[in-house]
Amino acid sequence: MARRKLVAGNWKMNGDRAALAELDGIAAAAAVHTDVDVAVAVPATLIAGAAERVPALAIGAQDVHPADRGAYTGCLSAPMLIEAGARFAIVGHSERRADQCESDILVAAKAEALHRAGLQAIVCVGETLEQRDAGEAERVVTAQVEGSLPEDVSADWCAIAYEPIWAIGTGRTPTIDDVAAMHRAIRAKLRDLLGERADGFRLLYGGSVSPDNAAALLDAEDVDGALVGGASLTAAKFVPIIAAASR
Ligand code: 13P
Repeated sequence: MARRKLVAGNWKMNGDRAALAELDGIAAAAAVHTDVDVAVAVPATLIAGAAERVPALAIGAQDVHPADRGAYTGCLSAPMLIEAGARFAIVGHSERRADQCESDILVAAKAEALHRAGLQAIVCVGETLEQRDAGEAERVVTAQVEGSLPEDVSADWCAIAYEPIWAIGTGRTPTIDDVAAMHRAIRAKLRDLLGERADGFRLLYGGSVSPDNAAALLDAEDVDGALVGGASLTAAKFVPIIAAASR
């Protein structure tokens, strides 16, 4: 099944108003490579500025609260993100699962909140190095997929990002065969859960994606895009990754 590639940047807790200038080059590349969906998840403080600066580019958030409103000090809801100009949000990133103790159930509720509000979701999964070394990677990741997707999930509004934790920000990546095997396992789990609807889901790879390795990773079977951290912070590094996804 032909799926449009999605290349999404995750700025994490990086960037300031001056950094929004990088989005000009990224938006220009997105306008050239019209066969690729391009998105950037900026810090929440920059969503409005980014969306105003590059209205054609999909700007998103890096988290959301599962409720629409209420007494949740410091949190942001999906309707708030929409009003700021977001079109999507990342949920279940391993840094939040670890630092904020986020569970699969919470991640699924966050994805559901995004859908309720009309936002797209990128749900992240991935194993630790210890789990991989113990031969547990596929079991751990497919269990995360099962637990982190809401019951009514659909490829129309949800993509899944496989991000091995040991590959994030380390410059290390799995072999292409290992990436393809994990994406195959995720697809098989989705088929178990959702039947034929599984085929529409875009499965992104994330973890030390760079201009040097993007083409090989994006060419791997069942890899429908990339979730890019460090290399999404500048147009100079992110644009070649967008180009690598285009054909
Ligand atoms: P890096 O591309 O910096 O390894 O980060 C990957 C990531 O965590 C994206 O969400």
